[in-house]
Amino acid sequence: MKLSLVIPTYNEKENIQKLLKKIQNEFKNNKINGEIIAVDDNSPDGAGKLLEDLKKQYKNLKVINRKGKLGLSSAVLEGWKIAKGEILGAMDADLSHPPEKISEMLNLIKNEKADFTIGSRYVKGGKIEGWNFKRKLMSKTATLLARVYTKVKDPMTGFFMIKRDCIKNVQLNPKGFKILLEILIKGRYRNVKEIPITFVNRTEGKSKAGTKEIICYLQNLIRYLPYKKNVIKEFFKFALVGGIGTLVNIIILYLLTEKLGLYYILSAIFSFIVAMTSNFTLNKIWTFKEQIKLEISKKYIQFSLVSITALLVNLFFLYIFTEIFGIYYIISQILAIGIALSINFLGNKIWTFSK
Ligand code: GDD
Ligand code: MN
Repeated sequence: MKLSLVIPTYNEKENIQKLLKKIQNEFKNNKINGEIIAVDDNSPDGAGKLLEDLKKQYKNLKVINRKGKLGLSSAVLEGWKIAKGEILGAMDADLSHPPEKISEMLNLIKNEKADFTIGSRYVKGGKIEGWNFKRKLMSKTATLLARVYTKVKDPMTGFFMIKRDCIKNVQLNPKGFKILLEILIKGRYRNVKEIPITFVNRTEGKSKAGTKEIICYLQNLIRYLPYKKNVIKEFFKFALVGGIGTLVNIIILYLLTEKLGLYYILSAIFSFIVAMTSNFTLNKIWTFKEQIKLEISKKYIQFSLVSITALLVNLFFLYIFTEIFGIYYIISQILAIGIALSINFLGNKIWTFSK
């Protein structure tokens, strides 16, 4: 099976030569039938010109020259359009991704162990070298948000391979940086495997990621909701469970106080615990369809922490809406419950029940 590896090369003149050499070595050493498709957007640093020259040296190198900077995702898609391989791949040009992992990723697909392989920084054995705290935090946050859609540990990486068939007739939106997440959401693949990589920060040139990419990413996260009807369904189940929990809470509060003569504050604490436990159980087996026994005590603690956080968020917004915005307190509470419910759902979806 042939591999078509796309490399977006905007302003990467200083990195291209070294990278191509490494990839060609990897191809040769592992007898890989591969082509490289460099997609350049008229780079001001002259990367496109250099690539044209390199074409003479490398017979398996194709170059696409576009008029101007049209974005990373669209570059990858454009490259795949002229690809001849049954397996499509993507990799950054700045030497952040290790070409030595190409054969491992490819072989898993060739041997039918996977139809989608991802060079991952966030599985055991993977790591990031040379990023500052801010960049790491941003990457982690973005990755966490993506958990709503995928269980893959590194859905933000730019290094991956997939069987062409898996994205045949799939409409991909070329906006932004995160083409992989979109394929994870929309693609028709059976099994994905993550291979640990060490991501090394570039030594030459500058990153092209910026505020524009962050905004685009957040927009995309909302845009993807209809593709995961499942998530919407889970949300409504979660809300319903919350409703049942409230009822349980009030009934037990009433019974303990009126029938057993318990002090009402004590009853309230007790009924809160019972309601939370029933919420946990229902969400575990019904909303998120997990086996009840799977890591039950750890998850119970996680669930409790999220629930208590949501309660604090609820009180916080109730106070703000009522005291600062002067909204009638019942209306404030309805709004606050909406916010707290969303946070409660998100927290449990991406943390407690993420695997
Ligand atoms: N043709 C083209 N056009 N190439 C582009 C464009 C563009 O508009 N924008 C970026 N590239 C190329 C760069 O030249 C580089 O080879 C690659 O895309 C990644 O861009 P970087 O600027 O190095 O991005 P990064 O290192 O900040 O982000 C990378 O790592 C992230 C992981 O946290 C990318 O791989 C992201 O996709 C990835 O999410
Ligand atoms: Mn980079």
